[in-house]
Amino acid sequence: MKPLVNKIVCIGAGYVGGPTMAVIADRCPDIDVTVLDLNEARIAAWNSEELPIYEPGLAAVVSRARGRNLRFVGQPEGAAHVAAADAVFISVNTPTKTEGEGAGKASDLRYVESCAHFIAAHATGHTIVIEKSTMPVRAANRIKSILASARPGVTFDILSNPEFLAEGTAIRDLEQPDRVLIGGERPEAIQALAAVYTRWVPAARVLSTGLWSAELSKLVANAFLAQRVSSINSISALCEVTGADVEEVAEVVGTDSRIGPKFLRASVGFGGSCFQKDLLSLIYISESYGLTEVAAYWQQVVDLNQWQKRRFADLIAAPIADDAGSLRGRRIAILGFAFKKDTNDVRETPAIDVCRRLLARGASLIVHDYKVTAEAVSAELGARGVEFALSPEEALKDVAAVAVLTEWPAYATLDWGRLSARLKPRTVVFDGRNILDAAAVRRAGLFLRCIGKGAPHDR
Ligand code: UDX
Ligand code: UDX
Repeated sequence: MKPLVNKIVCIGAGYVGGPTMAVIADRCPDIDVTVLDLNEARIAAWNSEELPIYEPGLAAVVSRARGRNLRFVGQPEGAAHVAAADAVFISVNTPTKTEGEGAGKASDLRYVESCAHFIAAHATGHTIVIEKSTMPVRAANRIKSILASARPGVTFDILSNPEFLAEGTAIRDLEQPDRVLIGGERPEAIQALAAVYTRWVPAARVLSTGLWSAELSKLVANAFLAQRVSSINSISALCEVTGADVEEVAEVVGTDSRIGPKFLRASVGFGGSCFQKDLLSLIYISESYGLTEVAAYWQQVVDLNQWQKRRFADLIAAPIADDAGSLRGRRIAILGFAFKKDTNDVRETPAIDVCRRLLARGASLIVHDYKVTAEAVSAELGARGVEFALSPEEALKDVAAVAVLTEWPAYATLDWGRLSARLKPRTVVFDGRNILDAAAVRRAGLFLRCIGKGAPHDR
């Protein structure tokens, strides 16, 4: 059967829009896919060999589809593509509001609204408008009211199709998703979009719900994931004081099939563009309906995460600070700056808070990461007191402490016997991800402190 959706436009060529459209184009060679972005430099990068985001497997997918049925163009030139489109995805950023009502919590929908105006101005005939960005529940009403300003005779369906991909595994998550969620009002519109996904996703994995359930489910899925990380991180502190080992506890707890083993890795804290933003959005929505206990419950997940980042920075500082608590004259190696492995994304990375706290106490830092650039680090931390190293070896020069903040697999296999020649004996190595070869670090005459592991492990 010929699909109803033959021409797709996506507004927003970011970490979500870019990979998602690349996979749709790759899997559906007969569907024409155009990705628009206001950011011309980003569009130029998508059209080059140096893609604007690092994501394993992405380059191969883009190179198969680009120039065939996938194109990236600036938003202004995209008007004609919107006019011809059967479906337009909105995949622009929805950051936490910084001013006005709900500042610090509510999601800022101004970019989404401007996309809705753009679609209303250029659409012709009937168009399915799809929320791909994570939205507050009932946001579709705002889009609907803007689309109502379109010329007479121009009609729309609105669907909510939130994306569940995680960075670093985006291509796998898109090619073999746990589920695709489509929320909507008219079954025909839901089916038209489902027909795109079922080209490669088993039909049983395509779930359909009402609009509000789809919008809310995305927020809730992220909140539950973040809650698991905060839960295990709260236990990591308890492990450190009792001598229990958080990895052992997580393994035991995770073998209960009702709980499951995933998302129980204690860490320096969760980061990324979504968890905190979506928790804050959920908190704001709960508050705005007068559900203060619900809001307070989820606020605690955010607070625990902030506390974990502060706690880790203070753990690093404790053995090297002077009597007045200052870190002046102390140089600290920071291994890893991305918010997780396999990405160059630094949005809300825990490394920002940990590093800023150390810098505020007078430390100087030498940062290494395999994918994050020196420019991205200095954009977050400034240049004062911050150097960038091109290798872990280089980062270890003249430092008083070493901290691992991102779980890059290459850090797990560092040759500490060789590296220790660059370090003073008994230098403390802080493993914020529990990935280092603990025996090798200790054999090299260094002290190791792991998140969620008590003093007995120091010996
Ligand atoms: C974004 C949201 O942050 C997230 O909530 C949602 O689930 C998916 O979309 P991401 O793709 O990671 O995630 O954001 P980002 O990498 O910032 O990309 C958004 C892009 O939209 C940017 O390239 C920006 O230039 C572009 N944009 C924004 C437009 O093209 N037009 C606009 O009007 C606004
Ligand atoms: C998340 C969701 O997983 C994804 O479904 C949604 O679409 C977007 O938000 P992402 O933020 O890309 O994806 O990465 P994720 O793997 O969820 O990790 C988020 C943060 O939690 C990272 O900083 C990660 O290091 C941390 N984390 C994750 C832990 O500290 N411990 C864990 O066990 C898992």
